[in-house]
Amino acid sequence: MPPPARPEFSQVGRKLTTRSGILELMDDLGRAMTVEPEMRMLGGGNPAAVPAMQELFRVRMQELLNDGVAFDRMLGNYDPPQGNPRFLRAMADLLRRTFGWAIGPQNLAVTVGGQTAFFYLFTLLAGRFEGGRRKKVLLPLAPEYIGYADQGLEDDLFIACRPHIDWPQGESARVFKYRIDFQAVAAVLKREEIGAIAVSRPTNPSGNVLTDEEVRKLSDLASSCGVPLILDNAYGTPFPNVMFVPAQPFWAPQVILTLSLSKLGLPGTRTAIVVAPESIASAITAMTAIVGLANVNVGQHLVLPWVESGEILQFGPKVLRPFYEEKSRQAVEWTREFFDAAKVDWAVHAGEGAFFQWLWLRDLGIPTRELYNRLKLRKVLVVPGEYFFFGLDEDWPHRRECLRLNVSQPADAVREALSIIADEAARARR
Ligand SMILES: Cc1ncc(COP(=O)(O)O)c(C=O)c1O
Repeated sequence: MPPPARPEFSQVGRKLTTRSGILELMDDLGRAMTVEPEMRMLGGGNPAAVPAMQELFRVRMQELLNDGVAFDRMLGNYDPPQGNPRFLRAMADLLRRTFGWAIGPQNLAVTVGGQTAFFYLFTLLAGRFEGGRRKKVLLPLAPEYIGYADQGLEDDLFIACRPHIDWPQGESARVFKYRIDFQAVAAVLKREEIGAIAVSRPTNPSGNVLTDEEVRKLSDLASSCGVPLILDNAYGTPFPNVMFVPAQPFWAPQVILTLSLSKLGLPGTRTAIVVAPESIASAITAMTAIVGLANVNVGQHLVLPWVESGEILQFGPKVLRPFYEEKSRQAVEWTREFFDAAKVDWAVHAGEGAFFQWLWLRDLGIPTRELYNRLKLRKVLVVPGEYFFFGLDEDWPHRRECLRLNVSQPADAVREALSIIADEAARARR
């Protein structure tokens, strides 16, 4: 019998092949970066081309090429699934000597990017357990990173809490800040079986940086409930440190901290590092072996000297922070100019870190999903806010009123895009 043109997919297969928000986002991004160069690309989370970083990477890659033995070893060998032993030792030493964390290489596991780390972590810690029990991942602050939404092998993995909205300089300044509603978090912990608490810091999409106090409180809550706290440090401290407000790096024995090379400017190397209790690090290692045998090792070789010297901690303060902070400041200035002129009711989340402006268009009149389509026709790519509120079980109009804009792209594109968004928002309200 000839094979069917469309073989039947398993339940897990179907779950992983639905048209997820992240697939659409990555498709749009990929097209815009390759076949539609005229698109003003404010979607996606691609890091900017930062010349000083690009130069560093080129010089270091040349160094590897010039050292034939190191180069051949890098391309010609599988690493152990936990990661390159010299890299793991250097990373553990750096974190221990700089921050005093009680960790060694046994607390680390390298993965193929942070995205893969989250797939492993959510699969390990949430879903169906022995005796039919179900556990969820608690997201203490929605909106949260779109890339989590469709992860794991089971549906309905997340429960999220709506935050308080604060206006630190008064509402007329049009800058708001989300703050964790700890009462809501405590209520969920009481009501539901939770396998882990997870937050990104800075948060993608809003650019919110949880305060040290909020992180400590979450860590205490996690510890008192006996669950891990996952801190997603894709943009934060200790590296890449794209943060515009002071905040301390944090790790504790029940904390799983994920670090990644992507936002340093190396997303193509697909390299992340999970810092975790030993049992979690070795579980991740086992999963890496099953799924992919070993990790991509180019990123680890590339940054190794900067991890050994500690220089990797300086790229943020010296290069990345000034670059992205200026992008953020400039975007707010243009937003103020165009949206005030268009008489659109707008506000932005305080830009405390990462690459995004989180724009709140109150009384927009149409969902931002629809605004996204209209903007795409005018060659502006954004991410509609709806995707970031997964796990919330209540309806909240706010979820249909926000847009995430990657403002780290070239100034002309960002300026033109903001002017077009203001125009479309004004039309939507007419
Ligand atoms: C908050 C957050 N976490 C994790 C990731 C995953 O990044 P990567 O897999 O490139 O490390 C991203 C990427 O945009 C992100 O924004």
